[in-house]
Amino acid sequence: MNVMTKDMTTKLGFDVERIRRDFPILSQTVRGKPLVFLDSAASAQKPRPVIDAMVQAMETQYANVHRGLHWMSERTTDAYESTRDAVARLINAPSRDEIVFAKNTTEGINLVAHSYGRGIMKPGQAVVISEMEHHANLVPWQMLRDAHGIELRVAPITDAGELDMAGLETLLQDRKVGLVAVTHMSNVLGTVVPAARVAALAHEYGAKALFDGSQAAVHRPVDVQAIDADFYLFTAHKLYGPTGIGVLWARRELLEAMPPFMGGGDMIGTVSFERSTWAEIPHKFEAGTPAIIEAIGLKAAVEYVEAIGFDAITAHEARLTDHALARLSDIPGLRVLGRAQDRGGVFSFTMQGAHAHDIATLLDRQGIAVRAGNHCAEPLMRRLGVDSSARASTGIYTTMAEIDALADTLLRVREFFT
Ligand code: ALA
Repeated sequence: MNVMTKDMTTKLGFDVERIRRDFPILSQTVRGKPLVFLDSAASAQKPRPVIDAMVQAMETQYANVHRGLHWMSERTTDAYESTRDAVARLINAPSRDEIVFAKNTTEGINLVAHSYGRGIMKPGQAVVISEMEHHANLVPWQMLRDAHGIELRVAPITDAGELDMAGLETLLQDRKVGLVAVTHMSNVLGTVVPAARVAALAHEYGAKALFDGSQAAVHRPVDVQAIDADFYLFTAHKLYGPTGIGVLWARRELLEAMPPFMGGGDMIGTVSFERSTWAEIPHKFEAGTPAIIEAIGLKAAVEYVEAIGFDAITAHEARLTDHALARLSDIPGLRVLGRAQDRGGVFSFTMQGAHAHDIATLLDRQGIAVRAGNHCAEPLMRRLGVDSSARASTGIYTTMAEIDALADTLLRVREFFT
């Protein structure tokens, strides 16, 4: 096992080759060529410590949590619950009780739309999203609008792909907005939204602030207290952890006031045929047997990125981003979508005369994996005047040589289409 520790990071600096050795999948070749995985924004690869933690739990102690009195259940409950501590530390949450596990970010946002939206917000109030939201931070609010008489407003973005703060403020001025729900980092443009400024603006007009941190939590250190957020969400599978578990953090007073999302075992206090009472937070929001093994994997993932350190992660990503933008802007006919000042390692692009799916297919033939399509952000694509794009995205294991392989292959794709 090749696990990077804090000491090693400090002594050696960011050693991407050492990190790559932790990810067994990356050593593969595809049709005789080294795998170049540039689709981490869709889902990231898993390091050995995450894989081992999950396998070890299943091989040595697995049992259901919060239920048994036997040692296996107790040990597994401790492991499951200790993930809350790790996540609270990662995002600087004031309390572990404010960490709620959901299936993913999407389920977490649906939880907020249901429990806060239907349970606390009043018909006639509004939710503001932005033009660059993933469908996960759009469709649940449309459903809330249609079911509960909540207005849905959309804050504009600038042509550079940044959140238009003046446009956002205009939407807040009638003080009808109960919630501003925006991405912290766009999964299409790579734009990093100034979350603390958004939260301050929302609060000035009496609204709460929710951030979809699915991309941001992977690329930047997140501090929910420094942002002064009210809700923050991210998912494990993009943070080098397993699928099937995501995180909703919310302020204690909000979680305590919100009614449960789903009913069933584990979320109750007492139950009779006449009525039931709810468990304390966070359990009130975790009905049924949770994603136990996945929570254990998430803790290992959190410890893995903490050991590398976000200073090192963001510095590596900044180097990759500068290099990628320089190389991609040299390719004739290629348009990178968005040019935000503050942006992370996500590059969506179109190429004159070539469909995004054809670009992705030709890249795939050279062993380069990217995503193509609308990236679950159809309204944003319309705003940008395109119906699809190819998207390359980086992870902690991405190398400069992989960015060069992408750019060199795109030059050949360009020749093919001209
Ligand atoms: N939300 C993921 C993406 O952007 C799936 O690809």
